[in-house]
Amino acid sequence: MLNRTALDALARRPLSFLRSAWPWRCVAYLLASVVPGIATGIVAAAVLAVPEALRVITGPVALALVLMPVARFERRRLRLVDAVPLPEVPDRRLREAGLALMTLLAMWWIDLLMVGLTVVGPVLLILSPVVQPVAQAAGAVASVVGVVLLPVAAYTVAAWGGARGAMTRAVLAPQASELTEVLRSRARLVDAFEMERRRIERDLHDGAQQRLVALSMSLGMARLDLPEDTEAGRLIGLAHDEAKQALAELRELIRGVHSPILTDRGLAAAARDLAGRSPVPVDVDIELPGRLPAPVEVTAYYVVSEALANIAKHSRATRTAVTGRVERGTLVVEVRDDGVGGADPAKGTGLTGLADRLAVVEGRLSVSSPVGGPTLLRVEIPCA
Ligand SMILES: Nc1ncnc2c1ncn2[C@@H]1O[C@H](COP(=O)(O)OP(=O)(O)OP(=O)(O)O)[C@@H](O)[C@H]1O
Ligand SMILES: [Mg+2]
Repeated sequence: MLNRTALDALARRPLSFLRSAWPWRCVAYLLASVVPGIATGIVAAAVLAVPEALRVITGPVALALVLMPVARFERRRLRLVDAVPLPEVPDRRLREAGLALMTLLAMWWIDLLMVGLTVVGPVLLILSPVVQPVAQAAGAVASVVGVVLLPVAAYTVAAWGGARGAMTRAVLAPQASELTEVLRSRARLVDAFEMERRRIERDLHDGAQQRLVALSMSLGMARLDLPEDTEAGRLIGLAHDEAKQALAELRELIRGVHSPILTDRGLAAAARDLAGRSPVPVDVDIELPGRLPAPVEVTAYYVVSEALANIAKHSRATRTAVTGRVERGTLVVEVRDDGVGGADPAKGTGLTGLADRLAVVEGRLSVSSPVGGPTLLRVEIPCA
């Protein structure tokens, strides 16, 4: 997210900020206030340049005509100081009109004044030996003061430009309440997937798995009846082992699709079950005040599952710890390992997939994994 807005850029190291385009972009942004300034001039002319009797009509008409173009202009020029896309929201007219009115009445001249005071001042000081033929020494001192003030001006302009951009974004961007419905529909989608998973798990469990169990038992009985040293006995023995293997793999697959332990006994038991099957020894320390909402449990379960799978695949760790607590209405799960570190969500789909899942339950995922280790994966899921 860093460096996508002028305010972010302010946090950069001074040299990198001063060399960047941000101060210039902010100057351009603020200078663009000339346009709403002209619009104000048009409205003023429509009021002042007509006979008094007509003013009550021409004034409001001129204002109404310029409001929406000014609002659109504000939206467009925001890109100069804020590179994060601004979603279009329908029924925003009232807010846009308010923003345009604020810009026409006050903001445009404050912007121009700001550029004038912070940038023109130092530039004039720098040029003072040329502009005002004063004593040479005084002129040189004024130039030096101007040069020193220029970086200060860059910061001031970026701070004001960034603040103005943030204000415009606050008015034009969708509010949290407008986003809940989107969130809810995503949550519905995940619920639908969850139901589908359960159905597949039941189908596999009651269908394919039972058939494989029956096949395995028949082969086992046939194996007992046939002497092992005959060719048929050897082949039946092989088939029996294969069937048992297939059954084990199917059980693993079913558990991956949906964990019955999770549904029946909750997160702590399901995490212990995952830990029991991990090739790296895992200490599980999960203490919860009873059962949590199903989406929270399922999400946390997939986090532990993916984290342990990653540890087995990538970390070369010798020990792993999973902890889980509810702190102030938020489930916090941490998975640590003492392996080689260097986990990078950009290299696979597992960690980004988890982040997507977490977004639906309004949770957060953070990863700390310096090269050389250790790795800590932390998730927070509100469960109130
Ligand atoms: N615990 C860990 N220790 C060291 N490296 C890790 C760890 N977890 C993840 N990584 C690194 O981060 C990368 C991204 O992990 P991620 O889970 O997103 O993808 P993946 O495991 O490679 O593939 P996928 O999960 O999609 O099957 C991995 O490729 C691996 O290099
Ligand atoms: Mg992975």
